[in-house]
Amino acid sequence: MPASHGYPYPVSGHSHDGLDWAALLGHLRQNDELNVDTLRELAGRLVGPQTRRVVDVGSGAGGMSTAFAEAMSGAGGTVELVDGVPELLDAAAACVRAAAGPQVEVGTVQADAASDELLDLVSRADLVFASAVVHHLPDQQRGIDRLAALVNPGGRLVLVEGGLEQRCLPWDLGVGEPGLQQRLLAAWGEWFRQMRAGMDGAVRLPVGWNRAMTEGGLTDVYSFSYLVDHPAPPTDRVYEAVLHWLSRLREIVGEWGSEADLDTVDQLLDPDSPNYVGGRDDVFLLTAHTVHVGTAPA
Ligand SMILES: C[S@@+](CC[C@H](N)C(=O)[O-])C[C@H]1O[C@@H](n2cnc3c(N)ncnc32)[C@H](O)[C@@H]1O
Repeated sequence: MPASHGYPYPVSGHSHDGLDWAALLGHLRQNDELNVDTLRELAGRLVGPQTRRVVDVGSGAGGMSTAFAEAMSGAGGTVELVDGVPELLDAAAACVRAAAGPQVEVGTVQADAASDELLDLVSRADLVFASAVVHHLPDQQRGIDRLAALVNPGGRLVLVEGGLEQRCLPWDLGVGEPGLQQRLLAAWGEWFRQMRAGMDGAVRLPVGWNRAMTEGGLTDVYSFSYLVDHPAPPTDRVYEAVLHWLSRLREIVGEWGSEADLDTVDQLLDPDSPNYVGGRDDVFLLTAHTVHVGTAPA
């Protein structure tokens, strides 16, 4: 399973996985804004005194690139955003440039991380970062090998993959059968399996991320996880994120869920229903992301 960024996705023909990433800009940005402190903390942990050039592959709405730019604002350097979707790249770069101080140069490269062209288009960096991207590539091991090849000797590749799926709801909502969230997440797991299996050229990655990184030639591989924890009662931003998460899950349940569960989700999403989730003060947002770090041999 991927790290739960809290959503299944709208579908289009724009990418290997058939997902319409440009349509998700608003949601990706919402997540970045909700978790700005956590992203800053992570960037502070990853950027060291020797870090002069960072490449963020699959930069999404630019939240992590912004955090990198802030972390490098003292010593200066370059942050390069790489994404396959030009609309996302432009919007993300605008955010990063607005936040970066005069010491940090911000660049963009439109490239497909599933193609070896990436290696011609992007120069090596001290820190190559990819969050929730590799699991969208048909051949994940090849994707990791490619990212590892972008790391300067002695530099690091950091992948954010895996962790715990997002949870937002009490077990018994008082409407429908208890345990709704578990059933929705099971449906999501099935959707994910089919999304991967349906990619042209899909290759299974039959090992964990640490082993795949070691296989990619990296050394001293280690992992840690961080929590995203917004306990009840929710703020307006948490409400928005919960509603988005639930409406996206609804699309998936539409295919795999029971009629009774669909009806419950519809009530939870209906602002006119007494069971509207936006009127509850007991929803929350809790997830964990795992960060895998490997060093390129000097
Ligand atoms: C789940 S989002 C993650 C965004 C951001 N890294 C984050 O963690 O919030 C996946 C990102 O990877 C990009 N992406 C997906 N497939 C890609 C590919 N083959 N090449 C380059 N970028 C890709 C998408 O456009 C999107 O920006």
